Amino acid sequence: MCVGSGGVGKTTTAAALALASARRGKRTLVLTIDPAKRLANSLGLAALGHHVQEVPRELVRRGAPSDRGELHAMMLDQKAAFDEVVAKHAKDPAAVQRVLANPIYAQISGSLAGAQEYAAMAKLHDFDATGQWDLIVVDTPPTAHALDFLDAPRKLSEAIDSPAIEWFRKLQGGSGSGWSLVGKTGAFVLKRLAKFVGSQFIDDLGVFFTEFNDILGGFKTRAEETFALLRQPRVGFVLVASPEPMAVREALFFHERLITAKMPFVGFVVNKIHPALPIRADVTAIASALAAQPQVAALGLSGTTRTMAAQALFTSHGELETLAEADRMAITKLREASPGALLVGVPLLRDDVHDVDRLVGLERYLLAS
Ligand SMILES: Nc1ncnc2c1ncn2[C@@H]1O[C@H](COP(=O)(O)OP(=O)(O)O)[C@@H](O)[C@H]1O
Ligand SMILES: [Mg+2]
Repeated sequence: MCVGSGGVGKTTTAAALALASARRGKRTLVLTIDPAKRLANSLGLAALGHHVQEVPRELVRRGAPSDRGELHAMMLDQKAAFDEVVAKHAKDPAAVQRVLANPIYAQISGSLAGAQEYAAMAKLHDFDATGQWDLIVVDTPPTAHALDFLDAPRKLSEAIDSPAIEWFRKLQGGSGSGWSLVGKTGAFVLKRLAKFVGSQFIDDLGVFFTEFNDILGGFKTRAEETFALLRQPRVGFVLVASPEPMAVREALFFHERLITAKMPFVGFVVNKIHPALPIRADVTAIASALAAQPQVAALGLSGTTRTMAAQALFTSHGELETLAEADRMAITKLREASPGALLVGVPLLRDDVHDVDRLVGLERYLLAS
């Protein structure tokens, strides 16, 4: 499980780890969520979402330690995954159709707290149950906060039990026949409401709460169960962080939560580190080194200009050093939080990581320990 806050490199890390595993002979599946378009293209995921597809073997096995591995990838379409879960919990095929076609469902399925995470975990459950895979690498949704992921079962239960949903559920009275139990006040409210939102909307709402009630109930009872899979010792959480203060703070919180929730924590990947390249030279030495460069000499700069250029170089390098030093301190914080844990650092690279070669290039950092 690759977890962490938004933008730190979860998707990249998941893809790189899955590829590394495949290149070592394992039959590997990576469940990825919203990869950058170019990464999706290079994994052959461009056209079709929500299907398992094999990454071309010649790409995966080129120069690899083993020539027997396979990498399969699926770009999880969270809406489609959610629809599948609904289909599973609905009482009959006609109910599935009614729910999926319902406009209220279309609204809610995208915004019900925790639902997307739940759907992704349900999908993982299914793949795990097939027993076909040596390793399944899971990328997690692009939530702003890493904690949203672990909070998903609770949030989902809360959303289902929210006063608003409860109110509608009571109105429905479980009779399954529209707004029979609304009573006088309720009928009045609905009538007024219909004036604003249209009676079609009210009817949609009625159908939605009749059909969706059982499904939500099923979700609630299974949410914990679904997430319990993650507690098994054969699962490992890789906490991806960047050395930015916000990301480190979140990673520390998240680490704490993983431990209290008894989730199997494996280690940190600290991504996008500014490399420390200390220089010993002073401005004068840099100015003479500049003067010795044929390209610089060809410019015919005055001594003063050369010194100014050297000063500017010196200053910007100093700024990089400051960033690298801040990153070192951030890494120390993570280390101290979990002294025994694995921690690997990946430098900030010049380019985005969006093809197989660049993913392979991350192996030497990710597999360093
Ligand atoms: N070490 C790195 N150096 C430079 N760019 C990186 C590095 N790791 C990831 N990226 C780029 O950063 C962006 C965000 O990475 P991504 O894996 O999509 O993050 P997340 O899934 O956590 O939101 C992508 O464009 C990716 O190519
Ligand atoms: Mg991502």
